[in-house]
Amino acid sequence: LDAADADYLISLIRSVPGFPKQGIMFRDFMPVFADARGLRILLDALKANLPVGIDDFDAIAGLEARGFLFGPAMAAELGKGFIVVRKAGKLPPPTCTESYSLEYGEASIEIEREAIAPGERILIVDDLIATGGSASAARDLVIQCGGRVAGFSFVMELLGLQGLQALGDYPTSSLLTMP
Ligand code: ADE
Repeated sequence: LDAADADYLISLIRSVPGFPKQGIMFRDFMPVFADARGLRILLDALKANLPVGIDDFDAIAGLEARGFLFGPAMAAELGKGFIVVRKAGKLPPPTCTESYSLEYGEASIEIEREAIAPGERILIVDDLIATGGSASAARDLVIQCGGRVAGFSFVMELLGLQGLQALGDYPTSSLLTMP
């Protein structure tokens, strides 16, 4: 991701103060997906900035909802499968479940138990890492389901929240940083 492309992506991200509650500066990525050039830059950069080699993971797991927007495209272009990490109550049983707290609120996430083969190496993707709560829960969920975490790939890291430290000792990449 060169400086011009990074600036272009940043220029597309809409910052909304006070959403979804007071004190939060919400970083809205939807304009990146709406923009043909932005979407191409994003997908190329995600593929070029994998935290591990292409042979070091077997499948990509994406977090609902924004991890669903680019995770399957990444997986298809990299020749991998895609595993959905959904909010609790959406997937039919049997599932694995983890609860966690995030920058605003509480949530539980699930994976279908059969989605991960024993020992499968999973790259976890999401658009944004804030406190790392949801990504840490996804890590625990993958392990609970019998998989191994190969690493994490994010579009953006929010600075000052120590999100990457919360994940532990895994290879990680993020394309952009914002306060
Ligand atoms: N998820 C957690 N914190 C966020 C923020 N500030 N903007 C967008 N998504 C978020």
